[in-house]
Amino acid sequence: MTTALELRDVRKSFGKTEIIRGASLSVSAGERVAVIGPNGAGKSTLFNLISGRFGASSGEILLKGRSINGLAPYQINRLGLARSFQVSNLFARLSVFENLRCAVLWSLGYRYAFWRFLADAHDANRRAEEVLAMIKLERRHDVLAMNLTYAEQRALEIGITIAGGADVILLDEPTAGMSRSETARFVELIRDVTRGKTLLTVEHDMGVVFGLADKIAVLVYGEVIAFDEPEAVRANARVKEAYLGSVLAEQQAEAGRAVAAASTGAAASTVGGGRAGLGPGAGSH
Ligand SMILES: Nc1ncnc2c1ncn2[C@@H]1O[C@H](COP(=O)(O)OP(=O)(O)OP(=O)(O)O)[C@@H](O)[C@H]1O
Ligand SMILES: [Mg+2]
Repeated sequence: MTTALELRDVRKSFGKTEIIRGASLSVSAGERVAVIGPNGAGKSTLFNLISGRFGASSGEILLKGRSINGLAPYQINRLGLARSFQVSNLFARLSVFENLRCAVLWSLGYRYAFWRFLADAHDANRRAEEVLAMIKLERRHDVLAMNLTYAEQRALEIGITIAGGADVILLDEPTAGMSRSETARFVELIRDVTRGKTLLTVEHDMGVVFGLADKIAVLVYGEVIAFDEPEAVRANARVKEAYLGSVLAEQQAEAGRAVAAASTGAAASTVGGGRAGLGPGAGSH
């Protein structure tokens, strides 16, 4: 299997503080990886390093076997890596379609060459329509981004991320702030639009993590303390001790409360059994 993304002992300091402390990771092409870890562990920083927003202090990052150290974000993007941001990145006053078309044109390198833009606008429009259908927002074609629902805005962001056809996709908390049912639908969307691609997604919802990921990378204080298949991570004593134990206990308690409150069972019917579906005893350490 070919390696889509590799991190070799990557470190990043801000001032005197080392935030990423020797992260190593090897992601195979087509794999779906959930990056989990407590707040402030360095998950977004890791994505910023991979996407070229920050330069690593040391170590090496390879995209499809090629070192991308020192490259600018747009250069890394041209090599086939695209990311979404934890904070919204939409043009609020452009329509859904225009947002997508901008993303397509940008990815094609039309920022400055307007004459080329005119010649190829047709292709860009077609691609934008295609992505619009993929994210199921056809009926919102001409709606301004700022007038979309929150979940629709997040879907549009996914569309913008994939518009350029990148085959390695980084999503930073794509389901944050969504309701259970929105999350469940959104995970299906993510699965659909990233089929055949390599996906790294930062995620706090353990239902999503265990339902979506082929592998889980656990980042704690800037270190990847585990990188394995979900069941192995769930059983990993170090992970339980450092992170999962407390989070799982908290989320199971929360799920228990939700189920008790909504005896219809709707609250527990999210992806992969939801937070209540983490397995017996998982939160007891
Ligand atoms: N540009 C920066 N300059 C200085 N410190 C930073 C910078 N970016 C992030 N940090 C620090 O690095 C640490 C990791 O932050 P990061 O945003 O990567 O965490 P995270 O795992 O994404 O957290 P969350 O789950 O809350 O999104 C934090 O202590 C943060 O304050
Ligand atoms: Mg973050």
